[in-house]
Amino acid sequence: MNKMTTIASAFYLAMTLPVIAGHAQPPSGPREAARFSTRNEKMNVFVSNLMGKMTLEEKIGQLNLVTPGGAVTGAVVSKGVEENIRKGRVGGLFGISGPDKIRQAQDLAVKESRLHIPLLFGMDVIHGHKTIFPVPLGLSCSWDMPLIEKSARIAATEATADGLNWAFSPMVDIARDPRWGRIAEGSGEDPLLGSQIAAAMVKGYQGGSHGEGLGRNNTLMACVKHFALYGAVEAGRDYNTVDMSRIKMVQYYLPPYKAAVDAGVGSVMSSFNEIDGVPATGNKWLLTDLLRKQWGFTGFVVSDYTSVNEMTAHGMGDLATVSALALNAGLDMDMVGEGFLTTLRRSIQQGSVTLKQVETACRRILEAKYKLGLFGNPYLYIDESRPAREILTTATRKDAREIAARSFVLLKNTVLKNADPILPLRPSSTIALIGPLANDQRNMLGTWAVSGDWQQSVSVFSGIKKLLGDSSKIIYAKGANITDDTLLAKKANVFGLRVETDPRPPADMIREALAAAAKADVVVAVVGEASEMTGEAASRSDIDIPASQEELLKALAATGKPLVLVLMNGRPLTLSWENDHAGAILETWFGGTEAGNAIADVLYGRYNPSGKLTASFPRNVGQIAVYYNHKNTGRPMDPDNKFSSKYLDVSNDPLYPFGYGLSYTRFAYGEPISDKKEYRPGEKIHISVTVSNTGEYNGEETVQLYIRDWVASVTQPVKELKGFFKIFLQKGQSRQVSFTLTTEDLKFCNSDLKWVVEPGEFSVYTGTNSAETQEARFTLLAK
Ligand code: NOJ
Repeated sequence: MNKMTTIASAFYLAMTLPVIAGHAQPPSGPREAARFSTRNEKMNVFVSNLMGKMTLEEKIGQLNLVTPGGAVTGAVVSKGVEENIRKGRVGGLFGISGPDKIRQAQDLAVKESRLHIPLLFGMDVIHGHKTIFPVPLGLSCSWDMPLIEKSARIAATEATADGLNWAFSPMVDIARDPRWGRIAEGSGEDPLLGSQIAAAMVKGYQGGSHGEGLGRNNTLMACVKHFALYGAVEAGRDYNTVDMSRIKMVQYYLPPYKAAVDAGVGSVMSSFNEIDGVPATGNKWLLTDLLRKQWGFTGFVVSDYTSVNEMTAHGMGDLATVSALALNAGLDMDMVGEGFLTTLRRSIQQGSVTLKQVETACRRILEAKYKLGLFGNPYLYIDESRPAREILTTATRKDAREIAARSFVLLKNTVLKNADPILPLRPSSTIALIGPLANDQRNMLGTWAVSGDWQQSVSVFSGIKKLLGDSSKIIYAKGANITDDTLLAKKANVFGLRVETDPRPPADMIREALAAAAKADVVVAVVGEASEMTGEAASRSDIDIPASQEELLKALAATGKPLVLVLMNGRPLTLSWENDHAGAILETWFGGTEAGNAIADVLYGRYNPSGKLTASFPRNVGQIAVYYNHKNTGRPMDPDNKFSSKYLDVSNDPLYPFGYGLSYTRFAYGEPISDKKEYRPGEKIHISVTVSNTGEYNGEETVQLYIRDWVASVTQPVKELKGFFKIFLQKGQSRQVSFTLTTEDLKFCNSDLKWVVEPGEFSVYTGTNSAETQEARFTLLAK
């Protein structure tokens, strides 16, 4: 039984609570800055007074984050939670939700602990709370900041209705390696896009910039993670070593974290990996010099799950040593491991940490609580009437459907003999709906949907049935198991059944699928990964569609019937065979609660797909890491020169590049035009390009702009995204899209780790993806 259930029955007291101190009001209006500083002054006074009353044990207690269960992502679960809360030895709790349970826990802290300090309540709210949106990698493919912000806003509303006040999101780790299962949780490979998404998410959760929306009952504190560089684990293996140059960090990997900090994120989570040989959780350069001194971060830093303790396995010393290392480095809160709780008192006595350091960390936690308004009203987020009104409503489901549709990426759509493209499907066609994910609800939510209920999700089958109004045009057959590899299935089923193994032999299932295909006009195969084949601790060395499904696809392709693949997966897959043999491919990631309806909308043309990839799809695993913003090298690829940088057996290019994604319509691009050929530093650079919808449908396009700096004191990538616009064009319509670059956009990180711009030749490229672009050139003058 969940620990908090015990708390529930034993300690529920239906009495009104004393308000402990003045309510933290969010600043707004023209005198915002002044009010903001007044709030900070009030907060300082309040926190100082409170700390004046606290014992050392209570101060250390605030640094302790516990979980009584829920999303367990490590070997340990907290023990003695109730007793510790009563004794003031807990600062926050995560992994429980629901106003009733949270009220019971808050009661313990507020009514039964000596100083009545309220608790933080955190949760992995990653891509929605109960209304689940596409996995973040999918969401990022919308390239739509207002939409992404809206998804976080909805998530915050639902999570706070469920009693929470802190979300462990956004995850902004840049990743270039699709073997890493956690690529699903981030926004892909590009720092500019990643930064914009990081800021949008923070604003969505916190209800605006700079934390000014905190303290309302429908906003919560965001936690940017995993600080830092976790997406660069060697060989894509989770929790593995990271080693990279400072220049690479600054220019490519750190910007999204910085963007979250600039947007006012309230908290930061340190990552599991090491940086320059020191684990992030104990890395003073990272947590203090960079985060606080250079970036000016004023919130608090929490460790990842037992990442303080794990520094022992990293080889940094015993628990007391690593706990002291973490506090000295600038870590404020210890997730689950209780290293702070059990060792800091003695470490103060021994002189390896100071009381002042404990107090600084404690102050930061109390400030967070103050900003959340918890001292004004510890029950601000606890309202038993909210869930029914605010969670999984018709409106949130409608938004989820739209957001999912906008995350899908059309990878291929060939033209049939009658000159019609395969997609969109005609409602009059009979479809053979085949595949282990075609009539599945359990996998639709994707990884890290800890509060999502798969039974609320819409399968592709039911989405299509609903759209068509009946099922007479659908012939369904499962065709294959997600995988026949029993060990892989077992690992994918760790959080509940995801791979349901059919008792029939594979050949029988394929036969059934072929019989369905024979009666249909078109075959729609819904294939891919189980949801838990990506996410944490879900790295894969082979990123093909699992073999059982490949066998099925080969048999279906051999029928000669038009073959549409609907893919569900949380990472770029290797799809060379599929690209050669399928007529159309729609990448739908894991689309969330409304995935089935959204897929039906797109397959039948109710929404014209507009998503663009944010991570390159390699041709094979050997190409990894393949990413668009790579360097040129001294021997760039030359097919006629053996001694150039290339493979003997595969091209250098990915199968589908960054920024790629088709539409049911076609977009034609003119050449980019710069308003001048030479610019002086500080001058604005105006680039325009005309885009026309030359196809048969109205549609949205993401117009992308990249630059190349041809000569610099540090080698620069062949292309770097510097801007994009999402535009809607009716068929036949043209529009001139204008970009404005500033000298800031031409900056790079030099060998002194400074962002600088150097005069010289630049190219600017515009186009529909990172590979298909047209070029203009300009010169940046020295003065
Ligand atoms: C470990 C994961 O790395 C992190 O992303 C998550 O927020 C925590 N566990 C808490 O569940």
